[in-house]
Amino acid sequence: MMNQRKQDQVKPDQHRRRRSLVVAGAGVLLLCLTAVIAQAEDGYRLWLRYDRLPEQAAANYQNKITQIIVGGNSPTMVALRTELETGCSGLLGTPVPISEEITRSGALVAGTPQSSPFIQRFGWDAQLEWLGPEGFVIRSFRMGARRVTVIAARDEIGVLYGAFYFLRMLQTQQSVDHLDERQSPRLALRMLDHWDNLNGTVERGYAGQSLWNWGELPGVIDPRLRDYARANASIGINGSLLNNVNANAQILTADYLQKVAAIAGVFRPYGVRVFLSARFSAPMELGGLQTADPLNPEVANWWKQKVDEIYRAIPDFGGFVVKANSEGQPGPRTYNRTHVDGANMLAAAMAPHRGVVIWRAFVYDMKPGYDRAGAAFENLQPFDGKFAANVLLQVKNGPVDFQPREPFHPIFGGMPRTQLMPEFQITQEYLGQANHLVFLAPMWREVLEADTYAKGRGSTVTKVVDGSLDRHTLTGIAGVANTGSARNWTGHDFLQANWYAFGRLAWNPNLSASQIADEWLKLTFSHDPKVLAALKRIMLESHEALVDYMTPLGLHHIMWGGHHYGPAPWWDTEPRADWNPVYFHRAAQNGIGFDRTATGSNVVSQYHAPVRDSFAGLTTCPEKFLLWFHHVPWDYRTRSGRILWDELALHYQRGVDWVRATRKLWDDLSGAIDAERHAAIAKKLAIQERDAVWWRDSCLLYFQTFSKRPLPPGVEKPAKSLEEYKAKSLLN
Ligand code: GCU
Repeated sequence: MMNQRKQDQVKPDQHRRRRSLVVAGAGVLLLCLTAVIAQAEDGYRLWLRYDRLPEQAAANYQNKITQIIVGGNSPTMVALRTELETGCSGLLGTPVPISEEITRSGALVAGTPQSSPFIQRFGWDAQLEWLGPEGFVIRSFRMGARRVTVIAARDEIGVLYGAFYFLRMLQTQQSVDHLDERQSPRLALRMLDHWDNLNGTVERGYAGQSLWNWGELPGVIDPRLRDYARANASIGINGSLLNNVNANAQILTADYLQKVAAIAGVFRPYGVRVFLSARFSAPMELGGLQTADPLNPEVANWWKQKVDEIYRAIPDFGGFVVKANSEGQPGPRTYNRTHVDGANMLAAAMAPHRGVVIWRAFVYDMKPGYDRAGAAFENLQPFDGKFAANVLLQVKNGPVDFQPREPFHPIFGGMPRTQLMPEFQITQEYLGQANHLVFLAPMWREVLEADTYAKGRGSTVTKVVDGSLDRHTLTGIAGVANTGSARNWTGHDFLQANWYAFGRLAWNPNLSASQIADEWLKLTFSHDPKVLAALKRIMLESHEALVDYMTPLGLHHIMWGGHHYGPAPWWDTEPRADWNPVYFHRAAQNGIGFDRTATGSNVVSQYHAPVRDSFAGLTTCPEKFLLWFHHVPWDYRTRSGRILWDELALHYQRGVDWVRATRKLWDDLSGAIDAERHAAIAKKLAIQERDAVWWRDSCLLYFQTFSKRPLPPGVEKPAKSLEEYKAKSLLN
């Protein structure tokens, strides 16, 4: 463990030092070179690789970036200077010196009006103010005969974001000749949520252990934390929830707060603020009170004191995330109080410090016989407009639970007077965990682009979320992290793309999945147009393919109980009906699917017209959501002209075919990608094929017991019997 942690301490400047060593010592040249390559291709460096660009590109930049002038010596400016120096020198393949003065053409100047006398002289204050605390400008111009590129912002963190943006331009080989870039994030809170337990395990984490070593903190701080913060800053992520939403109250003890403060200290120069999950019953567990009733003055006072204590230790603390009255967690309803009573009591404690309360809408403990997909809306919508100004309601993208595909959550568009903050899951709890290559940006974009029609056409989820539809200024987005102690951070080299994509979309939800894929591939794998085209196709098709082999046509939640890996549509032994696959797919002799129209649960009525009508009509419902909203006879004619059973079977087969074709394509790319990552991903693709076949066979065999129809031509005969598939989960 220690060794592993020590190894992780590679900083970008160390990479550079290693490189010069190679050049210097002829005798050890080969050895060192091998070491550098081995070090370099284990995925640790993420998208911040800074290797020398191809010859022509490097040469092209060499006279355009000749020196770096960064004003200021705060930790942020020091980090920024190191990043620019390391990045530019690495990419250009020649040292780019740090300078105090502009002495050459090709100077790169970075700073705020306060930190840099040059920038102060430009008189850009009004414009920088307009771009806000995190915005920046990048401009090229001439000072006499000298060409200068300036990265400027009102606040230091904006300059850091600008520096990463500029480095990305170099990494992706864009022209830096006539720059006039102005950027600021569309959303205020851009958070990674870590479901990390205090014992080092990660709930729904598939990339090793927690990155926070609570046992060693605060005395020993793993240098890897700095690289985590760097990576986040490079894509604009500015918040990190450190502990599981199924919270342990211990995190709020004085001892743990010292540890949290130590982490916050590492993150601070990179603009990443820490948040904590608060267990609602903490006043009883830690404070010895008899109750956690939010309307009890002693309880409110306990929280106020606790929050004051937190801010003494962590002055820029972000706030609390609360999972209340959900899946067994305590909450205000335990005391016959409402979600608003609970959230607003905590919000009052936070308000003097400008902290926020992020209240989760993942609430579905209601009356028997209800439809789980409608529960969050039923529980929370009546409170629209009642939450305090510093409360955000965090809503999962879909109404059930991070499924491979769900329609957008009806709360988006249903609570205009409440600040809503979407919660995506970057970690792939239901999507093959760290084994399946799936690029999630297309899935997230599908939700962000969905039109709620809350205020007529064009009322997209993006506009709800960025505050423009209902005039909210406190905005945010959260992604449940897929990171862990694995050397490559995410357990599968390709899934780093989802961390990257989340950050980019949080900065600008309008970026296309294609642009994000393109950027990430250039930063991470290759500049070769043929390789890029092949990999980009894989990325952009991967989500639809996974849906095909897991949950086509609107099926959902048919995974193995508990671990949620692999298929178990037959599963019916969970203690709660709405945790069982049979509850969700409702397969029977007369058809399959959950009737959520007026003849069923009528949850479709939670959407605005005309979305509601489109979902409710059997023939108007998008086929990707057919079995989500309708119970459909096996011989129903789908849009292809095939009957439902045949269509379903062919979707499963198509998913398998895609994985096989992708494996082949990947094999053909050997030589075009470094051997280490190529081999690691090839192994994962082999698992993905095994699983896709498993999904197709077990689902079709099981559903066939109801449809009683043969598999259509083109669908392979299953290799095993249904009983064999039922007997063994993919994880045991
Ligand atoms: C899912 C997941 C749980 C998690 C929960 C949540 O149900 O399986 O592990 O606690 O979501 O979001 O709170």
